[in-house]
Amino acid sequence: MTTATAVSDLTASDPIADPAAHRVLTGDRPTGPLHLGHYFGTLQNRVRLQDRGVEMFVLVADYQVITDRDLADRLAEHTENLVLDYLAAGLDPDRATIFAHSAVPALNQLLLPFLSLVSVAELSRNPTVKDEIAHSSQAAVNGLMFTYPVHQAADILFCKADLVPVGQDQLPHLEVARTIARRFNERYPHADGSAVFPRPKALLSDAPMLLGTDGGKMSKSRGNAVSLGATEDETARIIRGAKTDAERRISYDPANRPEVSSLVLLAALCQERTPEAIAEEIGDGGAAALKRTVTESVNEYFRPLRARRAELATDRGRLRQVLRDGAARANAIADATLAEVREVMGAI
Ligand code: TRP
Repeated sequence: MTTATAVSDLTASDPIADPAAHRVLTGDRPTGPLHLGHYFGTLQNRVRLQDRGVEMFVLVADYQVITDRDLADRLAEHTENLVLDYLAAGLDPDRATIFAHSAVPALNQLLLPFLSLVSVAELSRNPTVKDEIAHSSQAAVNGLMFTYPVHQAADILFCKADLVPVGQDQLPHLEVARTIARRFNERYPHADGSAVFPRPKALLSDAPMLLGTDGGKMSKSRGNAVSLGATEDETARIIRGAKTDAERRISYDPANRPEVSSLVLLAALCQERTPEAIAEEIGDGGAAALKRTVTESVNEYFRPLRARRAELATDRGRLRQVLRDGAARANAIADATLAEVREVMGAI
C-alpha cells in the first residue's frame, strides 16, 4: 500500500520536542521469552520514551499468536512472562498501560469497519505476511494471517497512538495502519470536518538489526536467540554455538560477514562502544575470542536486569494485576473510540 502524502518515520535519536503531545503504542506476541534483539531493537527505546514522559501503551498481542499456528500454547504463562520481561527491562506499570488485546472487546470490533477499507489484493501482497507464511509450520494459511495487519491497525488506532516503536520488519504494517487511518478519515469525517484518527509514525531503533545465532532473523520461535532471562551458562552455550566463518581476523563488515558482524555488534551494544573498536580489540583472536567477549559482555550488561527479573518472577499475582489494571484503562479508551467510530459512521 502506498500513501498519498509521505509521513516519514522517526528514529529513536530524533528529538521529541513535546513528549506530552504524543501517545506511543507498541506490542509483542506472547509466543516465548523476549530476547536480546527485542531489547536493543525496541525495549530499550520504550523505556527511554517512558522516562521522557511520553504516554506509553504496551500491548500483548495474544490473538496474533494464532495467525501461524493452530493453538496458542501456554498462553497465560507466555503472557505473564512477557509482562515480566517488560517490568525487568524498566517499564513501569504506573506510567505505562500494559494489557492483552483479547481483553479489550471494543478494540477488536474496530476490525470490522477497518477491514472494509482495504482490498484483498492489498492484504495478500503485504511482505511481512508473505515472510511469515514462508516460515509458518502450518499446512494451510488461515484467514487471520491475512487480516492481522488490519487487526494491528486497530491495536494502534484504538488509543489514537501517533508513534509506534517497531523493528524494520513491521514497517509494512505501519503503512497499513496509516492507510486505514487516512481512508477512514476521508470516508467518515466528524460533522465539523475534523479527523477521527491520527496517522501513526514508526519509531525505528538506531541499532542495526541483530541476527540469530544461525545467521537468520533472530526470532523467539526459531530457537536462535539468547533470551533476556537466560542464565549466564545458557548464554555462554548459545553464543558458543553461533555460526561464524573461517577467517581468523575479526572485522565489522555486515555486508560480507553478517554472522561475525552481528556478534561484534552485540558486544558493542552491551559495552556501549563502536563495533569497529570491538573488532579491532579482538583482532586475530578468531571466533573463539569473539564469542568469549560477546558472552562476557552480554552477561555483564544484563546482570542487573536478570536479577530484577528473578525477583519479580516470584510474584505471579502482581503480573496478573498489572494486566488487569492495564485492561481497565485500555477498555475505557477503546469504548470511547468505538463510540466515536459508530457515531461518524451513522450507526448511532
Ligand atoms: N506484530 C508485532 C510482532 O509480531 C506485534 C504487534 C501486535 C504490534 N500489535 C502491534 C506491534 C501494534 C506494534 C503495534 O512483533
